Amino acid sequence: MNENTIPKRYTITSALPYANGPLHIGHIAGAYLPADIYVRYLRLRGRDVAFICGSDEHGAAITLRAKKEGTTPRAIIDEYHELNKATFERFGISFDYYHRTSEPLHHETSQGFFKTLFEKGEFVEKTNEQYFDEEHQQFLADRYITGECPKCSHPSAYGDQCENCGSSLSPTDLINPISTLSGKPPVLRETTHWYLQLDKYQPWLEEWLLEGKKGKWKKNVYGQCSSWLKAGLHPRAMTRDLDWGVDVPLENAEGKKLYVWLDAPIGYVSATKQWAKENGKDWELYWKEQEDPADNARLIHFIGKDNIVFHCIIFPAILHAHEGYILPDNVPANEFLNLEGDKLSTSRNWAVWLHEYLDEFPDKEDVLRYVLLSIAPETKDSEFTWDDYRERNNSELANILGNLVNRMKLLHKYYGGLVPHPEGIEEDTSAQGVLDELQVLIGKVAENVESFRFRDAQTEFMNIARLGNKYLTDEEPWKKWKTDPEAVARILYSSVQLIAALGILAKIFLPRTADKILDILNLSAFPVDWKNLNSRELIGAGHPTKVPEVLFPRIEEEVIQVQKDRLEANKKVKEGEVQDQPQAQVAPAKEEITFDDFQSMDIRVGTILEAAKVKKADKLLQFVVDTGLDQRTIVSGVAEHFTPEEMVGKQVTVLVNLKPRKIRGVESQGMILFAEDSAGKLHIVNPEYAVMKGSVVK
Ligand code: 2FM
Ligand code: ZN
Repeated sequence: MNENTIPKRYTITSALPYANGPLHIGHIAGAYLPADIYVRYLRLRGRDVAFICGSDEHGAAITLRAKKEGTTPRAIIDEYHELNKATFERFGISFDYYHRTSEPLHHETSQGFFKTLFEKGEFVEKTNEQYFDEEHQQFLADRYITGECPKCSHPSAYGDQCENCGSSLSPTDLINPISTLSGKPPVLRETTHWYLQLDKYQPWLEEWLLEGKKGKWKKNVYGQCSSWLKAGLHPRAMTRDLDWGVDVPLENAEGKKLYVWLDAPIGYVSATKQWAKENGKDWELYWKEQEDPADNARLIHFIGKDNIVFHCIIFPAILHAHEGYILPDNVPANEFLNLEGDKLSTSRNWAVWLHEYLDEFPDKEDVLRYVLLSIAPETKDSEFTWDDYRERNNSELANILGNLVNRMKLLHKYYGGLVPHPEGIEEDTSAQGVLDELQVLIGKVAENVESFRFRDAQTEFMNIARLGNKYLTDEEPWKKWKTDPEAVARILYSSVQLIAALGILAKIFLPRTADKILDILNLSAFPVDWKNLNSRELIGAGHPTKVPEVLFPRIEEEVIQVQKDRLEANKKVKEGEVQDQPQAQVAPAKEEITFDDFQSMDIRVGTILEAAKVKKADKLLQFVVDTGLDQRTIVSGVAEHFTPEEMVGKQVTVLVNLKPRKIRGVESQGMILFAEDSAGKLHIVNPEYAVMKGSVVK
């Protein structure tokens, strides 16, 4: 990019994830890792960036989960906001601010937008009939209603969209609609809402988007937008009859909330305001049109493909109608990531959960970053498999990047760890060739990142390591040491320049690895800056280095097999065909006990009457169990395996004479027994056929 066309500042957003569940690798590959790569690159180039994200805490997904689990939306969002924020941090996603749409500042900001649009006459007020659940006394919009898709006949399309064919729908389009609250057919009732006249912005969108973004936006994004515009835009309701969300700021709007897709993208603005407040910045510089358009920030939204219409059509129409705001310069949406031959699915637990990965693979954040970027679904859907994960760690990260860095042991073998003086390097054509090629590859990394081709950018980064390995293999300094030590000095000096460049560039892709490489080179204290990459000498003769550590230990087959078994077990549990676990996975036998020892345990069959999550304890469920002797409270660490709802009514086996103990403030009076399979999944232990509660197990 020409220095004159570099924007003054950048506003980079990643889709606000719903705070109703944990993050999986599909989320990361779609909207977060690519944004993080871009932002880390911009920061390395010294650009002024605000990288914004946060929890999307309204919408049916949250309230439905709360209803299902017998808890409140507040409890759900508090739990998942904290979990997701911490998970992003642990994975090295470097947001400048991670906000929440439940914050008062966000409510004020989105209400401000609504009021401005209202006062400008951008809404039309319409009264019409909408579906209503009589049992729950609630109108049914969006995800509160399902039915057959009129376009593709998929049996469970939602009121706003069919996930099978991608069509955008209205609840009244659905064939045989059913309320997701009561499971019953709804009735029609009159209600009033405020509609944004999207049709009014159609000509403007055709000009701004269809003409202005042609050839500039990714084909998948542009194509989706152009189909929407070709089909013709219609007024869209910006309010809902709900009891959870941002209040509609009008006198006659009791019980009405802002449509979640109106308030969520405004969440980017409120998050920027909060960030600015806490960091002495001016948020308007990142969102408002400046007097001189050349001073405008460059706004880029990173999202998954299911969010395209909201970010490319509806939100820009809102910003345009409001006036004074900048518009997205680009929306490099990704396609979807699949897992081991199937769609990622939260409800089927067909996922690799990021927080679990981070627990189970400590110090391997960069391996997952590398793999997810290598297979990023930039132009079409792609697939994660554990075999591929292992293969890329072993044959690429370890054998190429790790190997090159490890070869710096030669500095210690020959020069006491110091970078040697490269006598005669100016005339050394192969050393010069390598340093020239390094500059070319650095340029390619930049060009690809600037064009949102992050996969290719990472490939060029790895090509620097390939270049270094080939150079060393071709030159064989270990053979020349005795006969031509000056040549060896030049070879190792040039190689060390490549590794220093890799250390700096790794800041973009593999931030923890970058720190390790820079530490090995004793460069941790130096300011890491793109400008240094332009120099042919990144690290001078005489500079001391440390003995390299192994950057990427090999990953063995067994480690991966555990993950594959777990996925397989999830599949079987869902299909109801759990089989015996392989012998090799069986836990070792415990010490022998006497019959009397066994007799001292009072084990009964009981029935679970109530189940709920334990506050601020991710893993615990609290049950009321009818043991036949009494009704008592028991706390179990099974929240990751069962929802409270699915446990209610189940017969279980209970050790009833276990001494009561307090767990997270709740007295647990006994223990429910579970079988743990080789994949770590728990299963209820109960009689083959239901028996009378209180029956003794012996
Ligand atoms: O699809 C989703 O997960 C939404 N929560 C994304 C919202 S993006 C933005 F508009 F806030
Ligand atoms: Zn459909």
